[in-house]
Amino acid sequence: MRNDIERVLIDEDVIQRRVEVVAKQFQQDCIDNDVHKITVIILLKGALVFGADFIRHLDMKLRIDTIHASSYNGGKESSGEVKLDHFPDVLNRDILLIDDILDTGLTIKAVRKKLSEGGAASITTCVLLDKRVSDSRCDITCFDIPNEFVVGYGLDFEGHYRNLPYVGVLKSDAAMEKLRQDELTD
Ligand code: PRP
Repeated sequence: MRNDIERVLIDEDVIQRRVEVVAKQFQQDCIDNDVHKITVIILLKGALVFGADFIRHLDMKLRIDTIHASSYNGGKESSGEVKLDHFPDVLNRDILLIDDILDTGLTIKAVRKKLSEGGAASITTCVLLDKRVSDSRCDITCFDIPNEFVVGYGLDFEGHYRNLPYVGVLKSDAAMEKLRQDELTD
């Protein structure tokens, strides 16, 4: 899999250190705002890895829920339509909504709207990566990144690469095709 990556954008160590700092800061903000119990909603599948690491730095009472939000269907561009599966009961809950990346911003916007309609007491949005291409921002962002297609640490291309411990840029389609051909002739 490493062969498919053109370059590593954010190292594993850098991710781990940043996630810890950001999670601890979030916890401190909760204490300052007198919030002692939260519901963490992890957007599947992309935020599975980030969300799992983030919550393990939180020393507070929390429930976990998940929503499967999809619009890219494994590809490189948003279909423009965000599909959401089951929606949890969020009435009067303080929500931490975790996603892996903010690109067009459609996903976070759609979920935030539904959480509001569901009567959430408060909503804090949190992403690992922000491409800074849309006008919307999340409350918490771990890294701003260039507008490139990235994989790893939960992010996929055609369902693969989510298990890479770092965030990287995939090789171009042409380079990937050559790699496939080389592998076939090996
Ligand atoms: C990706 C990613 C975010 C969303 C961000 O999900 O995980 O949820 O797109 O893009 P946006 O800001 O343009 O809406 P995807 O549809 O690829 O599903 P997945 O999480 O299952 O990979």
